[in-house]
Order: sequence, then structure tokens, then C-alpha cells
Amino acid sequence: MPHSSDIRFLLNDEEITLSELPATRTLLDYLRIERRLTGTKEGCAEGDCGACTVLIGRLQNGALRYETVNACIRFLASLNGCHIVTVEHLCGPDGRLHPVQQAMVEHHGSQCGFCTPGFVMSLYALWMETPQPSETQIETALQGNLCRCTGYAPIIRAALAVNEYDTPANDYLTRERETLTARLDAMRQNGRIETGPEDDRAILPADLDDLGKVLGAHPKATIVAGSTDVGLWVTKFLRPISPVVFITHLEELKSVELTDEALTIGAGVTYSEAEAAMREAFPHLGPYWERIAGWQVRNMGTIGGNIANGSPIGDTPPVLIALGAEVTLQKAEGRRSLALEDFFIDYGEQDRESGDFVASIRIPRPAPGQIDAAYKISKRRDEDISSVAAGFSLTVQQGRISAARLAFGGMAATPKRAAAAEAALVGQEWNEAAFEAAAEALSQDFEPLSDWRASAEYRMLVAQNLLRRFFLEHDADTSGKPRLEVA
Ligand code: FAD
Ligand code: FES
Ligand code: FES
Repeated sequence: MPHSSDIRFLLNDEEITLSELPATRTLLDYLRIERRLTGTKEGCAEGDCGACTVLIGRLQNGALRYETVNACIRFLASLNGCHIVTVEHLCGPDGRLHPVQQAMVEHHGSQCGFCTPGFVMSLYALWMETPQPSETQIETALQGNLCRCTGYAPIIRAALAVNEYDTPANDYLTRERETLTARLDAMRQNGRIETGPEDDRAILPADLDDLGKVLGAHPKATIVAGSTDVGLWVTKFLRPISPVVFITHLEELKSVELTDEALTIGAGVTYSEAEAAMREAFPHLGPYWERIAGWQVRNMGTIGGNIANGSPIGDTPPVLIALGAEVTLQKAEGRRSLALEDFFIDYGEQDRESGDFVASIRIPRPAPGQIDAAYKISKRRDEDISSVAAGFSLTVQQGRISAARLAFGGMAATPKRAAAAEAALVGQEWNEAAFEAAAEALSQDFEPLSDWRASAEYRMLVAQNLLRRFFLEHDADTSGKPRLEVA
């Protein structure tokens, strides 16, 4: 298979080819330092503030789709074949402001000016997708953009007004969509790409088989999907991670398949790409999904990455374990599947053999009588990591609990089921006493740690209260009593 050392992409209207590009060159450094496109700002360099927001267009199944990303933690080499759109590209050649910019000016949405380009790019993406958004949609689109002077009200007023200045049909990215699609199509490269110096080497496998071969040859390589974790290892910890194997371009890892039995998602599927199917199959995960990071990070981060990083505070493992999910691991020699809970062995240790990568996750659809819930407790509502996360799936038949899966994050060194609390519930009648007993039993299951997010005592109390909350929220469904909504 022929190898190339070229990374090719469209930057605004310019076709670029870079040879020998270091794997960890961030998009932000490339834009600001090499191209002097300084409209894109650096605030935090860790994906939190949104000052570096740009749009990335990517061909997927023949269609060109744009979404926001954080340039500070996105590695340029992962953008082979993509269209990068920066704030400089928004105003017309005659200097006329883009409708989003015009709205920001006229509604006084630009206050400090530093965060403004990031807000403009997020609002641009929102306007293209939803020209007349509700305030809730605007707030969701701006979850990943921080205004430190807290002047959100004028920004929201500007967002509500954008469509009065023009419609997305007249926007460059809509008008030129066919031409842009053809240009990106012509830039496609079919073989493997290897580029950059030995101590900062990037490898983009040609396909899934090739990924197996690459990892067989480089078992200690760093796999990078959305880079929303790995990006910080580089920008904050200056950690060497060569060779880097990028996987976001692999279409075979991008499938989302929903059947009557299960939802199966490829490891390269981002939170945003999985959202619609997740909501359809598991409606209780809809509000939970919106609590994961902010829009830009959900556009980049993958569920595969959230599982593979083995973090005890990742948001998807507890809720997926509760639902009985299976993870499939693959390497050159073949595939194997295991229960997700068995993948997590200890802190920093997962059931992964040399050369293994996460290929997909299969989540069975709820059985009759199954009641599911997902809870996230964090200091901030948006864009924050969990202190405690929980997924509960109980089956109740004729008023009796016949099965219980309770999984927690933030309570142990790994995402973990609460075996003693489950045992306290199974076989019991659905009533408050059963849940009190389960809450008591949690102290046999967990000895949580204290850290700067939460104390051990707080974590335990929250976990117990989540069981009580689950009982109160669902008591009406099982006992016929009036429904209690807990905010
Ligand atoms: P990457 O950073 O690319 O990789 C993460 C790890 O997984 C690495 O060890 C990598 O080698 C490995 N890996 C990735 N894909 C595979 C694969 N297919 N096979 C084997 N190994 C693989 N997380 C939450 O859970 N909840 C939050 O609310 C949240 N908020 C965040 C907010 C911000 C601002 C940021 C920057 C991050 C946040 N995160 C959060 C963390 C992160 O977004 C998630 O863990 C995300 O799912 C990681 O996915 P990724 O594709 O970006 O992984
Ligand atoms: Fe803050 Fe990138 S600089 S998100
Ligand atoms: Fe930039 Fe508020 S307008 S911090």
C-alpha cells in the first residue's frame, strides 16, 4: 500500500499541502504562529473557554458537514481532507460583516473582544443548523464559550437576531457546498499517511485492517480520536506521545446502527454524532448527554475515547454499564467482546492486550419493565467533570424488583457496579424501605476518595441520595401514586 507523507486540507479558500508535519502541532498554533490568522484566540489551551473555536467541514458518506471544534486541543494532522474555516473568512471581500458579526455589533455582544471570535464561530455554526434558535438552543450552543465579564444577555440577543440580517441559504458555505465538496473529494488520499519526525510521528492508517497492522508494529503508540483528553497531555503536561495513530478519519469506526435489539456505535463516533440515536433508544440519556462537556468538545470527543481512557470519572461508562453494554476490542489477529464493566480492571488498567483498540460498543435496548435513569453531579451545570455520575437500570415486575444494575463513576478507582446495593434491591418489593437498605449497603460497595472536586463523605451521601431520588422519581410509575418531579 503506497504511503504518503502529505497532510492536505482546505484553509478557508486555500488548498494546503504540508509534508513532514509533527503529530502534535495544534491547529491553533498553526493558525496563529505560522499563518498569522490571529482572529482565533488562545484563552485556556485546554478546551474549556471557546476562544479558539473554528469550524471544521468533513466529508462523511459523501456529505460535507460543518461543526465547531476547539483549535487549541485539535492536532492539525488529524484534519487531513478537511475544510478549516476561521473567523477571518466570515466577512465579505468588500469588508462587509457577516450576519453573525453584524448582529453581535448591533446588540453590543462584543464586550472584551477577546472571546468574541469564538462566540461568533459558535453562533455561526448554530445559525447554519438552526436559523431561528430558541434561547435554550442558544445556551446549548454556547456551553463551551466563556464570557468572563458575564455579559451573556447581549450575546443571546444577538444570536436571536442573526437571521434578520440574512439567511443561511445565502451564506458562502451553503452556496459553495457543491464546489467545496468536490474540492475536498479531489484532495482525498487512499493509502496510509506517515509524517513528522521520529520523536513526533503521525500515522493515519488507510483503513481498519491497516490500523490493526500499525498497532501490531507500534504497540506502544498513542491512539488519538477526538484528542479532547490527549490534547491536554500535550498542551498542559508537555508529554511526549510519539508515535501518534490518528483514527477520526476511519469511516469504519463511524457507524451508528440502531435495531430493535441494540444500539451499536463505532468507537470513532462523537457525542454529537451519537446523540440522535442515543435519545431515540434511551430517552433518559437525552438530558444527560447535554451535560457532557460543551458543544465543541461533544463535536470532537468520542465514546470510544471516554471508555478507552479508563477514567474513573468519565460520564459514559456508568450509564452504559447500567444498561448492560458490551465493548468490542480489535487487533490484527481478530476481535473479542466483553461486558463493559469487565473492561475496567483497576485505576489506569484495562483489559486490553497489546495491539488492541476499541472498535465498537453495543448497548441492548431496554427490556419490558426496565426503568432507567442517569445522573450527573458536578460543581457547574455545563462544561464540567462529574464529582459523581450514576446509571441505574432496574426491572420491576408486579411491584417486585427482579433485576438491578447500579453503576457509579467517581466512587472508586474505576467505574463500578454497586454489588451490595444491587443485592439489597433484587427480590424486594418496590418501596422506600428497599431503597433505604440499598443506600445503606452502598457503604459496603465503595470507599470514595476525597479530592478537590468532592470529599469522600459528600460523594457517599450524594450516591445514597441518588438512589432515594430514583425511588421518588419513579414511585408513581410502579405504585400508581402521583408522580413526583425532582428538579
Ligand atoms: P482522545 O483524547 O483522543 O483519547 C482518550 C484516550 O483514549 C487516550 O488514551 C487514547 O489513546 C484512547 N483512545 C481513544 N480512542 C481509542 C480507541 N478507539 N481504542 C483505544 N484507545 C483509544 N469527559 C466526560 O466524561 N464528561 C465531561 O463532561 C467532559 N468534559 C470535558 C470538557 C472539556 C473542556 C474537555 C477538554 C474534556 C472533557 N471530558 C469530559 C473528557 C473527554 O472529552 C472525554 O473523555 C472524551 O470522550 C474523550 O474522547 P476523545 O475521542 O477526545 O479521546
Ligand atoms: Fe480555551 Fe481553546 S483556548 S478552548
Ligand atoms: Fe469577552 Fe465577556 S465579552 S469576556
